[in-house]
Amino acid sequence: MKKRKIISVVGTRPNFIKVAPICRALATFGDRIDSLLCHTGQHSDATMSEVFFQELGMPIPDFFLGINNGTHAEITGRIMIEFEKILVTEKPDLVLVVGDVNSTMACALAAVKLGIKVAHVEAGLRSGDRSMPEEINRLVTDAIADYLFVTEKSGMENLQKEGVPETKIFFTGNVMIDTLVYLDQKIAASDVLARLGLEPGRYILVTFHRPSNVDDGESLASLVRFLNNTAIELPVVFPIHPRTRKNLKEFGLMGDLVPSVILLEPLGYLDFQALTRYSKVVVTDSGGIQEETTFLGVQCLTVRENTERPVTIEVGTNQLCGTDLPVVARKVGEILSGKEKQGTIPEMWDGNAALRIVKILVDLT
Ligand code: UD1
Ligand code: UDP
Repeated sequence: MKKRKIISVVGTRPNFIKVAPICRALATFGDRIDSLLCHTGQHSDATMSEVFFQELGMPIPDFFLGINNGTHAEITGRIMIEFEKILVTEKPDLVLVVGDVNSTMACALAAVKLGIKVAHVEAGLRSGDRSMPEEINRLVTDAIADYLFVTEKSGMENLQKEGVPETKIFFTGNVMIDTLVYLDQKIAASDVLARLGLEPGRYILVTFHRPSNVDDGESLASLVRFLNNTAIELPVVFPIHPRTRKNLKEFGLMGDLVPSVILLEPLGYLDFQALTRYSKVVVTDSGGIQEETTFLGVQCLTVRENTERPVTIEVGTNQLCGTDLPVVARKVGEILSGKEKQGTIPEMWDGNAALRIVKILVDLT
């Protein structure tokens, strides 16, 4: 039988974490599948890209598009133009995209326009908020994908409501959790707490990068006040996303943070997960971190008005706080005084999602 060719796409930090287990699973079907990897370059700082290839044991990309600057339309358009050239030369049977970033939508669009089948992993999530660039990327990608792999029940319901035929939808679990399970021992071996002089349960981990929280000066000044006040209680560990660092500098706010807000470059996966595991509470606007904390049973406060991952609220340890930071500060206080949310692990978040996905793809392609 002729081997089928699959090109998987990565572009940003969360993509690497999701695609790593898929690459591994595809490799186990090496007799039937020719698995290639394309990195669009959307995130390309060493701390946002290279470190994940090393720590997650990912293959070196077969194609690197090097597109990382510009407006949404510029990034999306340039990725489409460059990815199309690869598709024309390589003629894959399938393109696999993950998540909801511009690289996801751009590569899915380029592929379907050439009549190439598209699989979307992490399909069906909806925040209901079309002012989020990610929501547009999710809607477009799901509307054009041929195979939709879903992480949680809300995703199944959303796709059904949107009229996606049942035959295209597969409930397979969460590939991001596959990586967490796979690297458990290596995460346990991280010495990051000792390096930073931290004790388990005696610090707060925060990440912020949503445009709605970090792109305007007033929101960012309010974030700085929140971090400084929170750090009176416990040290606050803040690995800063490049978007946020750039804006803190631009608005002249970097120097306003007190020393007990421990500012770090974006961390590698193993150190970041070790910090998550032992944090008293994680305060974040990330998508993926809501899921990881739920899996780990770590308290999570999400600083957003909505979430596309409602299962983390319904059964997990996540609490949606809105973006009013005094309200978030009160929630932090509640957790510090012992009012913790109990959670359970969502269905099929068991470390085997990628294998389930790849088995389906092997049969379909
Ligand atoms: C992107 C995704 C977002 C995801 C996030 C994960 C879109 C629309 N947004 O947001 O959904 O949650 O990645 O982290 O796709 N930058 C660097 N070096 C890097 C990466 C980013 O300097 O390695 C800076 C650049 O100034 C860039 C800015 O960050 O212009 C924004 O990067 P971009 O990829 O457009 O959006 P993110 O905010 O990273
Ligand atoms: N992460 C990391 N180092 C950091 C911050 C986050 O390795 O300094 C990991 C985190 O564990 C999760 C992923 O990056 O797996 C989430 O990425 P991000 O928050 O940038 O994107 P989102 O999930 O919001 O799209």
